[in-house]
Amino acid sequence: MVKKNQTLGEFIIENQQAFPYSSGELSRLIRSLRLAAKVVNHEVNKAGLVDILGLHGDTNIQGEDQQKLDVYANETFIQTLINREIVCGIASEENDDFITISGKNNDNKNKYVVLMDPLDGSSNIDVNVSVGTIFSIYRRVTPIGTPVTKEDFLQPGNQQVAAGYIIYGTSTMLVYTTGCGVNGFTLNPALGSWYLSHPDMKFPENGSIYSMNEGNYVHFPEGVKKYIKYCQEEKEDRPYTSRYIGSMVSDIHRNMIKGGIFIYPKSSKANNGKLRLLYECNPMAFIVEQAGGKATDGFNRIMDIQPKELHERAPFFCGSKNMVNKAEEFMRKYS
Ligand code: AHG
Ligand code: MN
Ligand code: MN
Repeated sequence: MVKKNQTLGEFIIENQQAFPYSSGELSRLIRSLRLAAKVVNHEVNKAGLVDILGLHGDTNIQGEDQQKLDVYANETFIQTLINREIVCGIASEENDDFITISGKNNDNKNKYVVLMDPLDGSSNIDVNVSVGTIFSIYRRVTPIGTPVTKEDFLQPGNQQVAAGYIIYGTSTMLVYTTGCGVNGFTLNPALGSWYLSHPDMKFPENGSIYSMNEGNYVHFPEGVKKYIKYCQEEKEDRPYTSRYIGSMVSDIHRNMIKGGIFIYPKSSKANNGKLRLLYECNPMAFIVEQAGGKATDGFNRIMDIQPKELHERAPFFCGSKNMVNKAEEFMRKYS
């Protein structure tokens, strides 16, 4: 029978049953991320009211200091994961070092670590433009029950167990993969429930949108400059449309639905670009590949890069397979 209005909770249960030996730990972890996302969503939606309600820079009704939203999002996700004792470690774009989570008896029997960008595109908050959260989940490589080490976090993206993003947009969506395709859920704010609205998302193989910060044009590598000119050429299927929100989650989400390419290349100012390999590129690459798209650094697969540092950056070319292939052609030719 065709199921209608399936919730994320139902979806998780159904899919867990497909793996008879799974312990349910990953499902519980996704559920806690779902909860934190709702809390952050509530706060993001209030952002425009902060001045009107006189909360900013002061203490709020609970007597807590009003925080910047990215700090708030960071603390919310971390605290939710700590409260539910569901992971053994967390690394966040907002924290210098990773966090070790110990269990009740100072041990921790959990096997997963989470890496995240709690608020992506945070400069868009002030102007009422979509922002997001990105998360990435790995199985630890050091023995269960011992404190996590850097090694547990510095794994290549191809070791990800799950990854997802939340987009706080005109509606709020949670999109994630556990390696069996990509599914998108939309939050019904009145009920606080997420409904499967975008089952089995597919990245169109071709597209007509290119997304990059062309303000950096003079600093771009020659291959990217030439590719931009290619996008702008007057041909049967071109020029392409330029769309850049400046919030990667939103830019890639749109391109995944409509077909397009997102590029944040290296530049003469930043040798590895801006985006962080562990918190931004790898999780988005996993989702994009699972939807049939492609993600590289202009030459090599993003998820095969061996990370050396927690906050390492990487050039990022991601989107419709044929468009990424074309951009790579230019990179190879003009490197
Ligand atoms: P964050 O808000 O987590 O620091 O990330 C912002 C990122 C990404 O979302 C976006 O694509 C990019 O920065 C925009 O950078 P530019 O302003 O340089 O275009
Ligand atoms: Mn970001
Ligand atoms: Mn961020």
